[in-house]
Amino acid sequence: MQNSVFSRQLVESIVDELKITDLAQATIGQVVLLASALEQRTGIPFIRMDQGVPGLSPNQVGIAAEKAALDTGIAAIYPAAEGVPELKRETSRFVKAFLNVDITPEACIPTTGSVAGSFGSFIVTSQCSPGKDTVLFIDPGFPIQKSQLKILGVKYRQFDIFNYRGAALRDKLESFLKEGNISAIIYSNPNNPAWICLEEEELQIIGELATQYDTIVLEDLAYFAMDFRRDLSRPFEPPFQATVARYTDNYMLMLSASKIFSYAGQRMAVVCISDKLFNRRYPALAERYNGAGLFGNTFTNAIMYMITSGASHSVQFGLAAMYKAACDGQIDFVADTMEYGRRAEKMKRLFCENGFHVVYDKDVEQPIGDGFFFTIGYPGMTSGELMRELLYYGISSITLNTTGSLQEGIRACTSRMTDELFDILEQRLKAFKTDHPL
Ligand SMILES: Cc1ncc(COP(=O)(O)O)c(C=O)c1O
Repeated sequence: MQNSVFSRQLVESIVDELKITDLAQATIGQVVLLASALEQRTGIPFIRMDQGVPGLSPNQVGIAAEKAALDTGIAAIYPAAEGVPELKRETSRFVKAFLNVDITPEACIPTTGSVAGSFGSFIVTSQCSPGKDTVLFIDPGFPIQKSQLKILGVKYRQFDIFNYRGAALRDKLESFLKEGNISAIIYSNPNNPAWICLEEEELQIIGELATQYDTIVLEDLAYFAMDFRRDLSRPFEPPFQATVARYTDNYMLMLSASKIFSYAGQRMAVVCISDKLFNRRYPALAERYNGAGLFGNTFTNAIMYMITSGASHSVQFGLAAMYKAACDGQIDFVADTMEYGRRAEKMKRLFCENGFHVVYDKDVEQPIGDGFFFTIGYPGMTSGELMRELLYYGISSITLNTTGSLQEGIRACTSRMTDELFDILEQRLKAFKTDHPL
């Protein structure tokens, strides 16, 4: 601790003030508060690797389109549950351009962010097939989604994919699906927090088993096209963003605008449902909602509308314009976000030069890419110990065990890293290593 940035006493006093009972088990909200308080109290900047907020400027095409839409007076009108036709049409085109998947505009449902989208998706998937009442997480994952299930009282199972990459995924997945109670399988790809990207073989396994066991895959594409190892930026040309949609008809894709267009504050995403699932009739939904029991219609009108009462018109037009500009080759949203990859590459190098290692380091055989997140461990330290110790050196993060991971380490987020912070990060990591000799 000799070379730490903040004294143990100072950190402990703020921990007491914030009523954090166990720093090693602190939630992301508590870490954010603690880091902000330490910064304010001392004037010393933190390396903020905790919260995944976009660290780039919002897309200007979206902003201009929103302003223009507002000038037409649409603010006075309630948005329809199914969304505005312009956005539905452009989403369908965007999905074709960058995923090479056909989904009709009708089955593209705008919503107020992917968080709202997953909430509604959990509801519809847990109600459509009696007996299928449990969500399966391919972890590590986004903790908010488990919190949503706690609110809903829906059960979930989980497993850490670390030891089940490639062909090994089949038996592991099947061991859960065989029980017959799995309503949905959820994962993010690229993955928050580990930045692993599922390979085609793995997506094929998930898709085939989803069909075989009649389970719905909730594919969270919050970091769409950010596997920078391949050039996913050219519309209507391969390679395309990897997706389970190539291997099953039982899917709902969540496309968030938050990260790909740095649009998090506007709360906008689209849930894209396979046409087959969208039009499938479920007697249990018909009975519960007194309707025809059609999956897509129930999701849109009976569930999502009750949660969000529609996404605001202006932001729907904003996203429609951004999708259109991306499909027409007028903006390169992939190049815009590549900055995260550059930051990750430098940050990982500094960590590794100072005794740390990348925890989730491989996609089956090949090294993972550089992007929004990465995971870091330090020999002999548990997740909680490492997160806590790094705080003393002015570096905030979240523990991997809060994400369903069984590995020891922390999640590092690259989004708030700026050029002037790299030297500071290096000094702090050197100090950490000196105080924690290997
Ligand atoms: C995996 C994942 N899904 C969803 C979200 C949030 O999406 P939105 O801002 O559209 O609600 C995030 C943001 O951190 C995320 O990491």
